[in-house]
Amino acid sequence: MDGARLEKALREMGEVGVTPSGGVNRLALSDADREARGLLVSWFRELNLEIKVDPIGNIFAIRWGHEDSEPVVMGSHIDTVRDAGIYDGALGVLGALEVLRTLDDADVETVKPVAVAVFTNEEGARFQPDMMGSMVFTGKLGVEEAYASRDDDGVTVGQELVRIGYRGEDSLTPSRYLELHVEQGPVLHSTGQKIGVVEGVQGIAWWHGCYEGQANHAGTTPIELRRDALLGASELNVRLRALAEELGRGSVATMGRLRPVPDVINVVPGEAEFTVDFRQYDMELFTEGKRRVESLVREAADRHGLSWSLRQSADAQPVRFDGAMVDLVESKAMSLGLSCTRMPSGAGHDAQFMSYVCPTAMVFVPSIGGRSHCREERTDPRDCENGARVLLGCVLDLSA
Ligand code: GLV
Ligand code: MN
Ligand code: MN
Repeated sequence: MDGARLEKALREMGEVGVTPSGGVNRLALSDADREARGLLVSWFRELNLEIKVDPIGNIFAIRWGHEDSEPVVMGSHIDTVRDAGIYDGALGVLGALEVLRTLDDADVETVKPVAVAVFTNEEGARFQPDMMGSMVFTGKLGVEEAYASRDDDGVTVGQELVRIGYRGEDSLTPSRYLELHVEQGPVLHSTGQKIGVVEGVQGIAWWHGCYEGQANHAGTTPIELRRDALLGASELNVRLRALAEELGRGSVATMGRLRPVPDVINVVPGEAEFTVDFRQYDMELFTEGKRRVESLVREAADRHGLSWSLRQSADAQPVRFDGAMVDLVESKAMSLGLSCTRMPSGAGHDAQFMSYVCPTAMVFVPSIGGRSHCREERTDPRDCENGARVLLGCVLDLSA
């Protein structure tokens, strides 16, 4: 395995969609996403892989084995949030590419085929829900429903897939799924462990909401007569934090977007659009938390005389990965002499949905300072290589 080659690929991919501030903007199905897909497909072609594209634009690159059987699939995504780093998603895809390059270098012929999957719109930053490609692939979301999802400008997934030339007709049946990813949190870096053996992924619920009150003059409207939509949303935000603390057991709640209308210094905001992201690993507490979030939205509206609307835009249940696959990741890390720890994933991943259709597991490597979904996201090149080595070990076993 060539760690320098992997690092070079990460850097080259990280140039696609880079902004003057140094962050990466490769929103799903944008021009930058198309360019990144093109670069990746050119690398796949150098290895003579068979390329398939399915109806939601997932790309599969297959290295055939002796047997014409269901492939062992490694994968992740290459879309990003706004102003992202270069590792989230890309490490899983390029680590998988490095595994295939290594198999070629060593002239290894596997029994089973080995494939790389590149899933469409994992991030959900432009089109909701997130993990869209793996949801459609695993039958958890209808393709027509996915095509109809609109971005803030009203453009649909269906239109963008056609525009960038990635609405295909192929499909694939995986035998196993493995995803290498940066942890995106503080656990591995702060404890000095090298590999996270991921046992499952927490549930993720998203909502898009809007409060409507009354726009009015900031100087003349007495406090008691106001129906301030932004104040309602601000109070909701504070209460979401308190809810997460009260529920505990790692519950997290985030208002990532808040847009007042008309957004003017001397106008009481008549409208406020907001989003809520709530996550929890325990199924019962996840269900309870979702119910409580929805009550908080209603209660804050009532207190401030607002009308409200709320649309749930994602609802990925907590999952636990296949025990034998998790054990395999752990044993490969240990046999490479890498310290490791079992952990759940706080971030969403395509593996969350792939686990519904085949035995699945994930490999985490440390994120420096636990930073991710920001341009400061970093992972040491040696850790990227370590993760790819674990992936290679697992794939060699599973495809033998
Ligand atoms: C995806 O990256 C998510 O966890 O939001
Ligand atoms: Mn990711
Ligand atoms: Mn992400």
